[in-house]
Amino acid sequence: MARIGQDIMQAKRVLEAGHLVAIPTETVYGLAGNALDPVAVASIFETKNRPSFDPLIIHVSSLLEAENYVNDIPAPLRKLADQFWPGPLTLLLPRKNVIPDIVTSGLDRVAVRVPDHPLTLELLAQVDFPLAAPSANPFGYISPTSPQHVDAQLGKKISYILDGGACKVGLESTIVGMEADEIIVYRLGGLDIADIERIVGKVSVKSHSSSNPQAPGLMESHYAPVKPFIIGDLDELISVYQSNGIDFAVLSLERLFQSVPSENQITLSTGGDLKEAATRLFAAMRTLDESSATVILAELMPETGLGRAINDRLKRAATKG
Ligand code: TXA
Ligand code: MG
Repeated sequence: MARIGQDIMQAKRVLEAGHLVAIPTETVYGLAGNALDPVAVASIFETKNRPSFDPLIIHVSSLLEAENYVNDIPAPLRKLADQFWPGPLTLLLPRKNVIPDIVTSGLDRVAVRVPDHPLTLELLAQVDFPLAAPSANPFGYISPTSPQHVDAQLGKKISYILDGGACKVGLESTIVGMEADEIIVYRLGGLDIADIERIVGKVSVKSHSSSNPQAPGLMESHYAPVKPFIIGDLDELISVYQSNGIDFAVLSLERLFQSVPSENQITLSTGGDLKEAATRLFAAMRTLDESSATVILAELMPETGLGRAINDRLKRAATKG
């Protein structure tokens, strides 16, 4: 069973022995191993049941440290790093050969970020290698935003979970890179596109295709609860499921439904605040997945600010197969 604690030296020892530690970040918890050790990286894939063609993000303590692992940082991406690191931004940059093939699935670029969490920044300062870390969930399931989420699913497979409390952003990082002179967002995430565009101007979003060779991991079905997850107009869905006598749970942005028992519904933000909704999204999906209901009914958020990234996760959660 995993120990859950705040002992950075313990985490360091486990990592230096080539084993894995779950680490807190501002976005979601990561399943971390020494990114320079192909055997440790292989055990990340195995522990998560993750297909090996889905590359990993490396976590470093600073932009300066990132320079050890990449050949070049194009000026616009450097501006973004200056502005938003530590924070929920991942950059795709040309990798140096010290980064093993297994980290990038053989791609020329490596995904790099500086996470914004004091415990993990301290851990990164204490070890002399970057940490490869995907989200600490079995492949395809909802990402963990608390140490308890990690423990529930991976606790038997890892020895230590560094306890940094609940994640304050709650959505994975926004992934950004360049193709020729164009700035591309490959995954919508915890850093709002409007904030990125304020620094570097217009960007293109390429996050939806499941066959995009630049981001093989952006599968259409992902972040998914075990139960059927249905998105639509909640008033309509509720009346259909009620008339069919099916036991359902409801996930809404800010509305409560009189006709639904309160224990079967979660409101993400009573004030309709999309930041708060993002923070609570994955925990809410887990709670409803563990409830007695057989189906989860959900609605899309307004397509503004973090609403776009939340909708991306909701749609992937709803796709089966
Ligand atoms: O917020 C986050 O990014 C969290 C925390 C733990 O840092 N990590 C995370 O990792 O979400 P993961 O592995 O669940 O998602 C990383 C995504 C994958 O979908 C993968 O396809 C993409 O990043 N990716 C990683 N390296 C890439 C590369 N070299 N080229 C294109 N896409 C890459
Ligand atoms: Mg993930």
